[in-house]
Amino acid sequence: MALQQKGMHGAWVSRWTFIMAATGSAVGLGNMWKFPYVAGSNGGGAFVLVYLACILLIGVPVMMAEVMLGRHGRKSPINSVSDIVDESGANRRWAYLGWLGVVAGVLILSFYAVIAGWALSYIIEMGSGALRGVDGNSAAAAFTNLLNDPSRLIFWQTVFLVLCVAVVMGGVKKGLGVAVETLMPLLFFILIGLLIFSMFEGNFSAAVKFLFDFNFNQLTWRSVLEAMGQAFFTLSIGMGAIMAYGAYMPQKTSIGKTILVVAFFDSAVAIISGLIIFSIVFATQGIEPSAGPGLMFISLPVAFGTMPGGLLIGAIFFILVSIAAWSSAISLLEPCVAWLVEAKNMNRFKANTILAVLVWTLGLGTVFSFNLWSGYQVFGFTFFDFLDFLTANIMLPISGLLIALFVGYVVDKKIIDSEMLGIQPKVALIWRFALRYLAPLAIGAVFIMGFYDKFF
Ligand code: PHE
Repeated sequence: MALQQKGMHGAWVSRWTFIMAATGSAVGLGNMWKFPYVAGSNGGGAFVLVYLACILLIGVPVMMAEVMLGRHGRKSPINSVSDIVDESGANRRWAYLGWLGVVAGVLILSFYAVIAGWALSYIIEMGSGALRGVDGNSAAAAFTNLLNDPSRLIFWQTVFLVLCVAVVMGGVKKGLGVAVETLMPLLFFILIGLLIFSMFEGNFSAAVKFLFDFNFNQLTWRSVLEAMGQAFFTLSIGMGAIMAYGAYMPQKTSIGKTILVVAFFDSAVAIISGLIIFSIVFATQGIEPSAGPGLMFISLPVAFGTMPGGLLIGAIFFILVSIAAWSSAISLLEPCVAWLVEAKNMNRFKANTILAVLVWTLGLGTVFSFNLWSGYQVFGFTFFDFLDFLTANIMLPISGLLIALFVGYVVDKKIIDSEMLGIQPKVALIWRFALRYLAPLAIGAVFIMGFYDKFF
């Protein structure tokens, strides 16, 4: 079997573009919005440690497996997995694995676009001075006003999706490739700028203490489940995104080394974002780190509103968040677009349009869960919380588990060897061990205990 250098969608121009694209996918709302508040509500330090361990021991091996499947298949996740199932002579049921990821991706994008819309609207809100000197109550009221107004939410959700479609329509090289090569350096530049600002203007030492002070008393099985769900979510694993990007990776590139770089960037951004947010939060009296989802949209505006130059910095902060969300969302769109192009013979324009309309419509469920439908609950969750829990805490771990088992036990060894040329035997051994035993056991145990914890 000759290895394909390129599939029908083209390829990244270099290893570096892949790194930027995968980092762009990984670094997103998960790092800047979710990580700080989830760490905050789980007590900080100990949670961070578990999270980093999950990234290294489970996340990285599974991510390598996912990229490998994509690069071997050179197609959309659905077709790559399907081809590899056939090539390995495996049971056809394994082909559902590709579908699981792509469906999870579309569900995630539906609520991701709504929340990214909040960040877009906060660029204007901060920049216009509307939040100058607000106290906690008025900042909370401003946020509630946004959530209570479906038309504003829909407006920003639409703007965000149009931005995503504009990139993905351009294809791998001219659309995605050019976008990530421009956006990622900009993102790092802003991030470092804000870090320096928070060191001088914020309570940096309190933030360091909060994120690195290990207090294991607050750690429950539920927080371990959350840490793992978060590790999968933040690395973009299990949703076809990384598999699709892997399909465009140059054949010579070492998968292991490259993925380590991506995981390092991703964790660094999460920690730096946490440091920025908490040093600003701790610099203002009366704001709790455990504020939950409102941490970024309520606590930060209050804190920024009291600092010299804070409004401008606040607007820049929300530009940073929007860029991060944008470069992630395009990776959620791409797998399904690639599949529509392959299987339904559509051009990229049509595929993008159809998908965006679908995602937009589904997103209305999230929009309404904050206002018109806020009274309706599924299993005690609002529609949005339900989607978030279903995807991050159930679909992703299951998909990750199946990827680990598929590559660990089912995929033909020849395929693995051909993609992992040059990997050191010791590293290969550890990788295989992680896929065959560590990841399945850890995911299984945490999963069961998480349910036990929730229902008993
Ligand atoms: N990793 C992204 C984040 O942290 C979210 C994402 C998940 C993007 C899956 C693509 C695929 O926000």
